[in-house]
Amino acid sequence: MGNESINWDTLGFDYIKTDLRYLAYWRDGAWQPGVLTEDNKLHIAEGSTALHYGQQCFEGLKAYRAKDGSINLFRPDQNALRMARSCGRLLMPQVPTEMFIDACKQVVKANERFIPPYGKGGALYLRPFVIGVGDNIGVRTAPEFIFSVFCVPVGPYFKGGMKPHNFSISGYDRAAPNGTGAAKVGGNYAASLMPGAEAKQAHFADCIYLDPATHSKIEEVGSANFFGITANNEFVTPKSASVLPGITRLSLMELAQTRLGLTVIEDDVHIDNLDRFVEAGACGTAAVISPIGGIQHNGKLHVFHSETEVGPVTQKLYKELTGIQFGEVEGPAGWVIKV
Ligand code: PLP
Ligand code: COI
Repeated sequence: MGNESINWDTLGFDYIKTDLRYLAYWRDGAWQPGVLTEDNKLHIAEGSTALHYGQQCFEGLKAYRAKDGSINLFRPDQNALRMARSCGRLLMPQVPTEMFIDACKQVVKANERFIPPYGKGGALYLRPFVIGVGDNIGVRTAPEFIFSVFCVPVGPYFKGGMKPHNFSISGYDRAAPNGTGAAKVGGNYAASLMPGAEAKQAHFADCIYLDPATHSKIEEVGSANFFGITANNEFVTPKSASVLPGITRLSLMELAQTRLGLTVIEDDVHIDNLDRFVEAGACGTAAVISPIGGIQHNGKLHVFHSETEVGPVTQKLYKELTGIQFGEVEGPAGWVIKV
């Protein structure tokens, strides 16, 4: 399929097969040199730990076509570090940062024709992952591993993009208090399929998870992090060991403080005290910044700024973040890596 069939104006978050993906094996105690391949199917052992015991992790980052025609990667070093932590948590070999970034660059270059043009708002989403493979049956770490990176051109994650969406509170947990919530591992997402589907069936964009120990504090907004803005110019985001430490969230914490002059607070976000926020949002690589219109809890919809209008602080954060990603605004040193 050629990209001439892609309509850049209607891209959503759906799989599109691109030209080449990166593939490297870990064998005999070391990562072997990676190759680019046209084949988008993996041939793996039936006993692979990734298939049976969830021994796998993944990342998500984007390449952006900048205003001057160059290509930007946003903080890939942070994704490399987080993937190394996820690998460590599941006893998988860590991919060195240099190898991770090199693989991402190779995949972007090889699929350059799939990067949405500047001005369309889309980006090339990169999906690095590590899986345990090889002949095995017991619950133990795999004898071999695959590190791969593929890419897909994407538009907005939530339909309609930068407009408020409503979310419902889930009674389910995606992770345990001392489990794998802070690691980007598939098991967390498997656990989120049913709660997410239930929320969508009830016409919400997704569900919000509360802390698994007490079910009283907001943890995450589906596959994105939560932030709230108070009337006192505070940027508040949950402090919890079972939340995925998002790179968008990390970046917004810095931008909120240094560029918008907000006070940044990592704190408990009690579900019974949502009145403290005048705006709220979900942030992540896929979600970018998605304003939260309202949160449905105990049969009532709590509306923040508005169900239809984006709040002024959320709007400023969005402009600053996406401005840096698309090369319109100078970012802090090291955030944007040219491909
Ligand atoms: N929380 C969850 C559960 C996620 O899947 C993601 C997406 O990666 C995030 C938060 C946001 O993380 P990031 O900003 O690094 O994409
Ligand atoms: C991301 O934002 O990169 C995510 O991982 C979200 C989702 C597609 C899993």
